[in-house]
Amino acid sequence: DRVIKAALLGLGTVGGGVYKVLKMQEEEMIPKLGAKVELKKILVRNIEKASKKIDDPSLLTDNWKEIVEDPEIEIVIELIGGMEPARTYILEALEAGKNVVTANKDLIAADGHILLDTAAKNKKDFLHEAAVAGGIPIIRPIKQCLAGNHISEVMGIMNGTTNFILTKMSQNGMEFADALKLAQELGYAESDPTADVEGLDAGRKVAILASAAFNSRVTFDDVYTEGITKITATDIQYAKEMGCVIKLLGVARNTPEGIEARVHPMLIDVNHPLASVNDAYNAVFVQGDAVQDAMFYGRGAGELPTASAVVGDVFDIVRNILNDCCGRIGCTCYKNLPIKHMNE
Ligand code: NDP
Ligand code: HSE
Repeated sequence: DRVIKAALLGLGTVGGGVYKVLKMQEEEMIPKLGAKVELKKILVRNIEKASKKIDDPSLLTDNWKEIVEDPEIEIVIELIGGMEPARTYILEALEAGKNVVTANKDLIAADGHILLDTAAKNKKDFLHEAAVAGGIPIIRPIKQCLAGNHISEVMGIMNGTTNFILTKMSQNGMEFADALKLAQELGYAESDPTADVEGLDAGRKVAILASAAFNSRVTFDDVYTEGITKITATDIQYAKEMGCVIKLLGVARNTPEGIEARVHPMLIDVNHPLASVNDAYNAVFVQGDAVQDAMFYGRGAGELPTASAVVGDVFDIVRNILNDCCGRIGCTCYKNLPIKHMNE
């Protein structure tokens, strides 16, 4: 059976989760894929700190060149987050002929088209299922399973941290700051949680989903964002008295006047399905002309749920490597079968 070598960039919440899920999958990989994924290197900033987190610290490096210049490494899994150096590493990896998986919303919502174009130019995969709604499959279902639809709207709860805070404030009477601290301890929040509580993280996800659903280029700058920092315990009490809950919703609509993309808190009737989406769960509704309504629900953040989506992408790439195809929709990959020249 073939062994496909991969490198992990970052060993934080999600990187650590990917390390664990790959170990959990060790026995199942070969029957599922006909190949084994092996981590050859893990890029970290502080080797000593990271060596306490894993069984085999010999995998750790703080030198990117050891990864990008290693021809054996076919898949790079970027989980350091933020714009730089993640952007440079992804572009260099693709240019070096490696496939890339990332969960990096910041980068995709700003420069997704550049990364996808670079992947296409190099006939490599660039997959990012974990960038929206953590463990919930949503990007691939929209791009592939729902491709037979004209999609008019995508909307829902797309940030686990803020949904967790609103749930704890509403159901447990917790203070905003205490609920945020707990969300950080549970690994739901971004390294700078301002991105969560100000609605920026959900805004990035709306941009990514709108681009996928409407086959367009929507960036974070196109999205109106308002977070939950101004929501008080009194607001939550008033909402309850009205038979409602407050949720931070992301909405993208394809209207005749153009694409509308926004994130802001909304009052939801307690009987609406979104009202019972609690803690770090997310739920996304998609409206298409053929399917009509589809709803995707599950854990939107955290170590193992997010790693589940990342490893799913890695396994998809393994299938494409084994089929000698980049797997992109419309790709022109072909198998290098020998040609018998009959005229010679
Ligand atoms: P963390 O902050 O927990 O982990 C990031 C890791 O990357 C840290 O260990 C950090 O090292 C390391 N790192 C940062 N810069 C470098 C560098 N230059 N070279 C090597 N290592 C570096 O973040 P998460 O794991 O939570 O998030 C990772 C990505 O996944 C982000 O893009 C995030 O938006 C996305 N994401 C996160 C989800 C979640 O639930 N947490 C869900 C979906 C997506 P150090 O420890 O030294 O700082
Ligand atoms: N900080 C993000 C959230 C992580 O809370 O939803 C998942 O994208």
